[in-house]
Amino acid sequence: MIVLGISPLDKDANAALVVDGQIVFAAGEERFSRQKQHVGFPEKAIGAALRYAGLTAQDVDAVAYAFLPAEKESELIAACVTDDAAFNSQRRDGGLTAALREADKRVPTRTQPVHGLREPNQRMKKGFAKETFYRLAGVSPLGSRRATARASEAWRNEASNDHHKWHKELERGLGDLGLLGKLKRVEHHHTHAANAYLWSGYERALIVTLDGYGSGLAGSISLGEGGKIRRLHGLRFPHSLGSLYEMVTSSLGFRPDRHAGKIVGLAAYGDPAVLSDVLMRRVVEEPGDFKLAQNLNVYFSRHLASRYPMIDVAAAYQHVLERVAGKLVEHWVRETGCENVVLSGGVTANVKMNQRIHELPGVRGLFVYPNMGDGGCGTGAAAHLSWPGGVGKPFETAYLGPEFSAAEMQAALDAQRLPYTRPQNLASDLAQRIHGGSIVARFDGRMEYGPRALGNRSILYHGRDPGVNQWLNQRLGRTEFMPFAPVTLWEDRERCYNKLSGAEFTAQFMTVTFDCTDFMVQACPAAVHVDRTARPQLIQRAMNPGYFDILAEYKRLSGYPSLINTSFNMHEEPIVCSPSDAIRAFLLGHIDLLALGPFLVEHPERHKADRPSGT
Ligand SMILES: [Fe+2]
Repeated sequence: MIVLGISPLDKDANAALVVDGQIVFAAGEERFSRQKQHVGFPEKAIGAALRYAGLTAQDVDAVAYAFLPAEKESELIAACVTDDAAFNSQRRDGGLTAALREADKRVPTRTQPVHGLREPNQRMKKGFAKETFYRLAGVSPLGSRRATARASEAWRNEASNDHHKWHKELERGLGDLGLLGKLKRVEHHHTHAANAYLWSGYERALIVTLDGYGSGLAGSISLGEGGKIRRLHGLRFPHSLGSLYEMVTSSLGFRPDRHAGKIVGLAAYGDPAVLSDVLMRRVVEEPGDFKLAQNLNVYFSRHLASRYPMIDVAAAYQHVLERVAGKLVEHWVRETGCENVVLSGGVTANVKMNQRIHELPGVRGLFVYPNMGDGGCGTGAAAHLSWPGGVGKPFETAYLGPEFSAAEMQAALDAQRLPYTRPQNLASDLAQRIHGGSIVARFDGRMEYGPRALGNRSILYHGRDPGVNQWLNQRLGRTEFMPFAPVTLWEDRERCYNKLSGAEFTAQFMTVTFDCTDFMVQACPAAVHVDRTARPQLIQRAMNPGYFDILAEYKRLSGYPSLINTSFNMHEEPIVCSPSDAIRAFLLGHIDLLALGPFLVEHPERHKADRPSGT
């Protein structure tokens, strides 16, 4: 059965072709449209999927979409808001003002600089008028209840309108392709759950989905057994860890839909003890569930962000996320007796939370679906319709996007009049240049599916220079608080990371952090965060020989089995898709070398001025 899976159109629309439970092609529309997290019908990605598989739209047996009909979603949205109003009206948070005053006293004096911040205890200063409003609307009992009610109402209207709008857009797009009659809709968290379990390779697993919102829920707990999924519990919106994190991301000055990773990075610099007890006052922990009071009121986190150091605010939210998610998973692991946990949903992009879940007592195996956010839901929706039954094979590869021929790459180079060579042993040449301090962009094979670059659309550099996190990010137009991630040879994983057992498989897709060994700290300091964690991609040769060989050769030259791997794109642009995208980003980013398939290109203007000498 050939199923076209389409992820929600409201953010990061993706298309996937799933044939009898096997993902044949999957890619985000953003890569083709060049609009980050593309909003709208993914017509270019669908075209690329059909072209790749040699099919026409008429060959598709069904189309699967990762939301229920708009009317049903609107009903669920309204019910969530009504229930939440009742919950918040019964709560009284006496003593919050005093707790905040206590927190004021816990703010440490700091002198150690935090890269990207003007000073380590930087706050989000907004001026007297705004800050007064944040305090009244975020903290005062009456003001915060009113602000929450207004935010809930606004969210209800916006979310409901959005569902109707995207419903129309979906029907228009499918109508143009003659596929409207084949549309089937799948409840949102079922699609995340299918992604997490069906491709985990586990016979039996606890399935945990956590996101912002989907079909009335902010998460779900299910049991996967023998290739079947049985839901055990739904986590009701707006008690949403995704929304909680979106609030702090926005309050700290970042885009809530795409910059949550910056908060994870900032959090490692802060002290969670400053504010976590304040945040925990708003959490009601129940066995196997939790509630978050006034969770849609952004003024609470804005008040915290204007009053306390950004790093302490980030640290407290990260701590609370890890604690609440950890207790939830721990409970259901005990209930089900499952030692394998599989995760999906936007919140599980939080690599640090995933590490905590992996380290919980009773958890052995961990799998995080590589396209964990809503962009991944198309494959899950399609799997629901086309799964042949039985336990699936482990997720084989994230290289599921388009690929380009050597002739197409050569034509793109010729169009730019760029001179190139075609080395006999490209991997060896690249490794030597990286060892000598060059930055290399690698473009080869099928494009990665999901948010991570895993070698085929990657920028590579040696990890011996911790300063690279400043100067290379600056050159690429990025602000990051988390260091670049490493790619590490599979056979050296135990030398580099602690407590890997059970998470090695998922670490091939860069979905979890680990504590680093002393060897890793010394071998690749640029990839180790201040809390001594790193988010590696473990690479085996069978997964990507051309990429693996560069690293193996680098190890032979340097003795170190890790390199820095960062996504090949410019600031806020999607990762490159085509050879011409790659050439453009290469030239703009002043990257020393471009390995475009078999071709090697030197940057026309070697640009070492902004790099410290000796690197
Ligand atoms: Fe979702």
